[in-house]
Amino acid sequence: MTSRPRKPVPLPEARWPTAEEARGARLFTPATLRTLTVHERTWVPAMVPWRATEDGQVTPDNLDWYGRFARGRPGVLVAEATGIRDVRSGPLLRIGDERFLPGLRDLVARVREESEGRTRFFIQIIDFLTVRRRPETETFFSRYWKPGAAHRERLAALDDDEAWLSADDQGMRAHLAAAERETWAAVLEPRELRDLEYGYRDEVNDVHLPHVAELPTVLPGLFADAAARAREAGFDGVELHFAHAYTMASFLSRTNRREDGYGGSRAGRARLPLEVIEAARAKVGDDYVLGCRYLGDEVIAGGSRVDDAAWYGVQFAQAGLDFLSVSKGGKFDDAKQPRVGHAVYPYTGPSGHECMPTVRIDADGPFGRNVPLAARVRGAVREAGHATPVVAAGGLCTFEQAEGILQREEADFVASARQSLADPDWFLKMRTGQGESIRRCTFTNYCEGLDQMHKQVTCKLWDKDFDKDAPCTPLSWDGRRRLLPPDWEPQT
Ligand SMILES: Cc1cc2nc3c(=O)[nH]c(=O)nc-3n(C[C@H](O)[C@H](O)[C@H](O)COP(=O)(O)O)c2cc1C
Ligand code: SF4
Repeated sequence: MTSRPRKPVPLPEARWPTAEEARGARLFTPATLRTLTVHERTWVPAMVPWRATEDGQVTPDNLDWYGRFARGRPGVLVAEATGIRDVRSGPLLRIGDERFLPGLRDLVARVREESEGRTRFFIQIIDFLTVRRRPETETFFSRYWKPGAAHRERLAALDDDEAWLSADDQGMRAHLAAAERETWAAVLEPRELRDLEYGYRDEVNDVHLPHVAELPTVLPGLFADAAARAREAGFDGVELHFAHAYTMASFLSRTNRREDGYGGSRAGRARLPLEVIEAARAKVGDDYVLGCRYLGDEVIAGGSRVDDAAWYGVQFAQAGLDFLSVSKGGKFDDAKQPRVGHAVYPYTGPSGHECMPTVRIDADGPFGRNVPLAARVRGAVREAGHATPVVAAGGLCTFEQAEGILQREEADFVASARQSLADPDWFLKMRTGQGESIRRCTFTNYCEGLDQMHKQVTCKLWDKDFDKDAPCTPLSWDGRRRLLPPDWEPQT
C-alpha cells in the first residue's frame, strides 16, 4: 500500500491539439449506441448539483446547469442520479411519477437548444435505501435501542454483576447512555453500535424487513417505469445506476449474503440487475439506448473486485445493454464517521477516495487511475464476442490521456466529471484548437465537499477574479459563489 504523500501530485502536463490534429483524433470521431449516433467520444458523467426543488422538480437553476454543460457540446451528457421512487429526497431530481415529466421535458429541450442538437442527453436513474443521520447518544438509547436478554447477559458479564440480568429497560437505557464506548462495544450488537456511531441504514441483507425482502419484486417495475418516463420526456438514453453506495450496487456486491436467490454466488448477485435490465428493455423498446454504470472494484473488505466486474460486464452485454460505464468505490462500508446530526457520506473513506480521487490520494495520483478497470471489463466483453462500448472515468483531464485510452482500446468513451465542471467548454476548446484557454481542474475536491454538505455544487475556479456585484450572475443561497461558470465564446 502506498502512503499519502504530503505534497500533492502535480497535474499532468497538457499539450493541447491544433484544430487539425483534433479533426484526426479518435476522441472526436462518432460512435453508435444501438440506434443512436453520438457525435464524439467525450462524455460528462452524472454529477448531482443540488439544484432541484425539495420535491425533486426541475428548477431554472437545473436548466442553467445542464444547459451550460450542453454549450460545451460533449458527445454525451448524463443527468444526475434521479430517484425512481415517489418519495422525498431533498433537492435531487426525481422521475417516480408522471408529474415530473413537464420539468424533465424542459430540461431535454434546453440541452438540445444549447448544444444545437449535438449532445446526446441521458439520465441516470437510481434507487437508494434508507440512511438516517447519526443520532445523539441520548436519543439513540432512549428512542431507537431495544434492550434484550443478550444485552443484559453481556452487561452482567462485563460488570460482573448479576443484577443486570433483571434490570428494567429504563435502567439499561440510562446506564448505556452514560457509558463509555468500551461498554457499548461489549454490550451492543455490531449493527447497533454502527447505528449509534454512524446512523441507521438499511442493507440489502436485511431480509427480515419486508420492504428490503421485497426489493426483487418491486425494483424491476420501478426502474422500468422510470426508464419509460425518461423516454417520454425525450432523453436520448437511460443509465441504470448500479454503482457506488446504492441499492443495485449492493446487490452486485460480494457482501450480498441474501439466500433468496438474489445473493451469494455471482449469478445470484447479478440476478436482480439482469431482471431490472430485462424489465426496462421491455418498457423502452428495442430502439432505445439503455446502459448502466457499475463498479469495476468496490475497494472494500470482502467486496467485489475486477474479476466480478468483468463477469458482470459480459452478462450485461449479453442482456443487451448499450454501454457500460465503469466507476470505482464510493461505498458506505468504509466511510468516515459523520458528525452527530449528519448522514454518513460514501465518498469519505478509502473506497470513496478512489471514486473521486484527488491529487493527494497517493504517489500515483488520480490521473487515469481507474482506467485499468474499464480496460479489463472491455477486454472480457470483447472476448465474449460483444461490441458493447465501455466508458472510462477518473482523473481524465488532458487530450493525450483521452486519445491514448481510445487508441489503446482501453475504453470507447472518455468521461470527465470534475474537469468538465471546472470548464464545461473543455472538450469544445480541444476540438477547436483552443486548448490553451482551458481552466484546469486541480482535483482537490472543493466541489465534493459541497456535495457532502448538500450545498449547491460549484467549482472554486469559477469564483476566481469574479465580481459578485456584476448584474445577472446567479449566486448560491449564501450569496458567496457563482452558480455557473464564466461564459466562453469559441473563436471561429
Ligand atoms: C459533485 C459530484 C457529484 C457526483 N454525482 C454523481 C452521480 O450523481 N452519479 C454518479 O454515478 N457519479 C457521481 N459523481 C462521480 C463522477 O461521475 C465521477 O465518476 C467521479 O467524479 C470521477 O471522475 P472525475 O475524476 O472525472 O471527476 C459525482 C462527482 C462529483 C464531483
Ligand atoms: S472544485 Fe476543485 S476539484 Fe472540483 S471541479 Fe473545481 S477545481 Fe476541480
